[in-house]
Amino acid sequence: MKIVIVGAGAMGSVYGGLLAEAGNEVYFLDVYKEHVDEINRNGLWIEGTSGDRYIKNIKASTNPEDVGIVDLAVIFVKSTITEEAIRSNKAVIGDNTIVLTLQNGLGNIEKLETVVNRTQIISGTTSHGANMLAPGRIRHAGSGATVLGELDGKVTDRINKIAQIFIDAKFEDVKVSPNVMGIIWDKVLVNVGINPLTAITGLRNGELLDYPETEWILEQAVSEGEKVAKAAGITLNTPDPVNHCKEVAEKTRENVSSMLADVSKHRKTEIDNINGAIVRIGEKHNIDTPVNRVLTNLVLWKEKVYK
Ligand code: PAF
Repeated sequence: MKIVIVGAGAMGSVYGGLLAEAGNEVYFLDVYKEHVDEINRNGLWIEGTSGDRYIKNIKASTNPEDVGIVDLAVIFVKSTITEEAIRSNKAVIGDNTIVLTLQNGLGNIEKLETVVNRTQIISGTTSHGANMLAPGRIRHAGSGATVLGELDGKVTDRINKIAQIFIDAKFEDVKVSPNVMGIIWDKVLVNVGINPLTAITGLRNGELLDYPETEWILEQAVSEGEKVAKAAGITLNTPDPVNHCKEVAEKTRENVSSMLADVSKHRKTEIDNINGAIVRIGEKHNIDTPVNRVLTNLVLWKEKVYK
């Protein structure tokens, strides 16, 4: 299968690397020129949980014209740039291309829809972890589930076929869900509780539970998010999202969250697609979300005072 990874950062590179190893024709599209050049020169180095090796059969580029139309486009850019990434790379999308978003946060599907027919879009979540060590060098830090689904919940031949491609590429826990939107929201509600609070305080994930003050804020933020999910007609898969968020914080106790990493490096965060989205969707349904609003404003303020 001809596959492009749009946004070949750490996670995109792990997914693309394993798909290439399984014999697919894999292209990477990314604006990070040093990463692209290193992959084309020496191959992609992946180390960590899936083994240490070079993967040589990937073609990387900054230009979608070098790739042409693909069968599957996997979107892995940060949710802050989904719209510009799909617009600038639309040359890879044909009438029969399937577009899969495995990104964090809410609103990615709507942004993809500005360029791609909704019927061509499928979605999912990933629990893998990865970091970029250097251009062309990735650490596959943790393995986990990949859950895929059609937006309308139907279990189609097409979604089973895409899932099989990931199974064939040795992703260990691949599932098709009839409720992928619920799974995306489950993950968002974890990020709602952990990400802004760690970004504001500088604490690691588990440390949020060591102080009653931060634990309380986490609980309030997630329960506001839960109310918004219900009002938006989402069926969550986790019966107790507050407890689930705390479990993930404990399980990833030593992690620097992605949002804390972003503010530490003075990068734009995904706050608008996480707590900001809860506030906006809450407004639509007349649900007050004061804690999420405060968290959103504090992170947005932090971004404004980066020096
Ligand atoms: O965004 C993140 O960092 C992760 O989704 C999570 C679960 C909060 C773990 O660090």
